[in-house]
Amino acid sequence: QWTTSSIVDEQVARIREQIGDGKAICGLSGGVDSAVAAALVQRAIGDRLTCVFVDHGLLRAGERAQVERDYVAATGIRLVTVDARERFLDALAGVTDPEEKRKIIGREFIRVFEQAERDLKAEGDYKFLVQGTLYPDVVESGGGTGTANIKSHHNVGGLPDDLQFELVEPLRALFKDEVRRVGTELGLPETIVQRQPFPGPGLGIRIIGEVTHDRLETLRQADAITREELTLAGLDRTIWQCPVVLLADVRSVGVQGDGRTYGHPVVLRPVSSEDAMTADWTRLPYEVLERISTRITNEVAEVNRVVLDVTSKPPGTIEWE
Ligand code: XMP
Repeated sequence: QWTTSSIVDEQVARIREQIGDGKAICGLSGGVDSAVAAALVQRAIGDRLTCVFVDHGLLRAGERAQVERDYVAATGIRLVTVDARERFLDALAGVTDPEEKRKIIGREFIRVFEQAERDLKAEGDYKFLVQGTLYPDVVESGGGTGTANIKSHHNVGGLPDDLQFELVEPLRALFKDEVRRVGTELGLPETIVQRQPFPGPGLGIRIIGEVTHDRLETLRQADAITREELTLAGLDRTIWQCPVVLLADVRSVGVQGDGRTYGHPVVLRPVSSEDAMTADWTRLPYEVLERISTRITNEVAEVNRVVLDVTSKPPGTIEWE
C-alpha cells in the first residue's frame, strides 16, 4: 500500500543516500514538478540545496515574481535568479524545428546551471542537479520501455552529452496527481500544488515558427488574457491546462474599425486529462470562448483571429511542438 507519506519517506531516504554530504542545485521553473522535487530534496538535505530560477524570457506574465515571492515564502528555500533572456533568444534565433528548439533550450538551461555552479564554487562543490522529471516525461521521451520517442521533454531528452552534474530525479516514478499529493504532504501551498502544468521550454514551443522578442510579447499578452478569463469563469480545476499557441508564420485578412488587418491567429488548446498521457479537448462554454476571443483581438495588436483546437490526444499532443 503506497501512501503519500511512505512515498515521501522513501524518496527522502534515497536522496540522502545519493547525495550524502554533498550539495545540490535545483532548477526551479515555477511549475509543480520542480517545486515538489526541490521541497523533497530540501527535506532530505536542508540548506545544502540551492535553487536556481532561470528567467529564459520564455515565461508567462507574472511567473518570475510568483516564484521569487510565493515559493520562497512557503519554503524558505535559498533562491538565485539568473537573467538569461538574451542568451536564450540568441540561441533560438532562426530556429523553427520543434525538436531543435527543445534541444537548444535544454542545452542552454544546463549551461546556465553550470555557470551558477561556478558562481557558487566558493561555498563548495555542487555536484548534483535536481530535476522534476515525471514518469510520463520519461516514457514520452523514449526513456521508458518499448515506447516510441514522441518529443524530447527538455529535462529528459534534451540534456547535453557532456553533462557535468549527477542527476537527482525523485519524481521519476510518479504521475502528476501523486506529485501534487506529495507537495501537499510537504506543506506547499495550494497556489503552487494546484498550478496547471506548463512546459519547461515555455512559450518557446508555443510559437510556431522562429521565437523572437516581439512574438513572445504578443503570445504573453494573449496567454495572460486567456488565463485570466478561465480563472474568472471558475474553470481552473475543470481544465488540465489551456495552451495558447501563436501561429507566427501564418497571417489572415481581417477588418477592424474602418481598416483592413493582416495579423496572426492564436489557437486555444483547452484540454482535460488525468495524467497528460491522453487528453480530451474541453468543451468550454461559448460565452467564455467569446470573451477570450473578443479581448484578445481587441487588446493584442498583432492578433486578428482566435481559433479553437478540437483534437484529442491521441492523435494530437497537448502542446503543438
Ligand atoms: P504533450 O504535448 O507531450 O504534453 O502532450 C504533455 C504534458 O507535458 C507538458 N510538456 C512538458 N513539460 N517539459 C515539461 O516539463 C517539456 O519539455 C514538456 N513538453 C510538454 C505539457 O504542457 C503537457 O502538460
